[in-house]
Amino acid sequence: MESTVGLADPKRDLARFEDQLVDAARRVIASGFYINGTEVRSFEEAMGRTLQLESPVVGVGSGTDALILALLAAGIGLGDEVIVPSHTAGPSVAAIRAILATPVFVDVEADTACLDPQCVEEAISSKTKAILAVHLYGHPADMDRLKPIATHHGLILIEDCAQAQGARLRDRPVGSIGDLGCFSFYPTKNLGAVGDGGAVSGSAERLKIVRKLRTYGWSEPQYSDLPLGRCSRLDEMQAAFLNVKLPLLDADINSRRRVAEIYKDRLVDLPIELPVERPGAYHAYHLFVVKTDFRDPLREHLSKSGIMTGLHYPFPAHVQPGLSEGTRTAGSLAVTLDLQAKILSLPLFVTMTDAEIDKVIGAVQDFFRGGH
Ligand SMILES: Cc1ncc(COP(=O)(O)O)c(C=O)c1O
Repeated sequence: MESTVGLADPKRDLARFEDQLVDAARRVIASGFYINGTEVRSFEEAMGRTLQLESPVVGVGSGTDALILALLAAGIGLGDEVIVPSHTAGPSVAAIRAILATPVFVDVEADTACLDPQCVEEAISSKTKAILAVHLYGHPADMDRLKPIATHHGLILIEDCAQAQGARLRDRPVGSIGDLGCFSFYPTKNLGAVGDGGAVSGSAERLKIVRKLRTYGWSEPQYSDLPLGRCSRLDEMQAAFLNVKLPLLDADINSRRRVAEIYKDRLVDLPIELPVERPGAYHAYHLFVVKTDFRDPLREHLSKSGIMTGLHYPFPAHVQPGLSEGTRTAGSLAVTLDLQAKILSLPLFVTMTDAEIDKVIGAVQDFFRGGH
């Protein structure tokens, strides 16, 4: 039977490091320290260096928790508004709701699918406390325009880097541009663990709060508790695995970019819109999302050809009852609604072979040559 091309392939990703990962697991088991030990500390420092930051990042339990703890550390809570794109992964919005703040949904730019700064500016009210800029699909949001807006209105600018680790805006890595950066190590992410994990970047002062919040709100050594403390730590085992993989991150982003370049080269003549890379942006290509009026039939054709695709995301947050109740939507979100009908994520992962890339390209070409 012909093999299927997956949308991502975390198993093959990890197979590249199998011996080192097994050694790392043995090392942790033998160490006797399973929480907040040397593996976590060295990973936090190493990742801080990759972000060109003076402070090490703070490892936490997941990307969602990174967002929740960053929002709490920024002093945001009940009654505060946080501006967020409706076109994003659910957790960007769920994190805002989890701390009882109010998401305010705004539109995105048609080419990058990231926050439209003009719409952000128009959505600001007296209750607005923060902007959550999601670097969706791996392309950096327009921080050059968002940062002055945040500064002018006294807002905290938080970066959701879950899909964009390794992306840059000129010489600045994402996660080092705003006030706080939030990362996910979900297995299919650009730096995937062998389970859940996340990290927060930012100033030493804010990270001190995140450090306390991730361990019940304790301030060592007194153990006087901060309110709203949680238990959300990156554990030693995941940190040890991430220490194995982090040095390869840049090379992995290059591999992702190579697949993207081949797709762009060979799909250029078809009636589909291809992802863009704005001048000054370095796209990490977590996802390769095309737009087409023939999305559903193309998706079905690819599925029949043994190619898995994805919809990131099928429903904008502002139309989902579970996410939108009690929120505010600023403007018509016309771009968001248009994207929702047209987007399709093609397979893209680091270990993709040339034969797999050819298979995807061939199937997309067949679909359009067959009359669409
Ligand atoms: C944009 C975005 N934000 C946040 C998250 C949440 O990350 P995690 O799954 O590690 O909680 C994800 C993961 O899917 C994401 O894509």
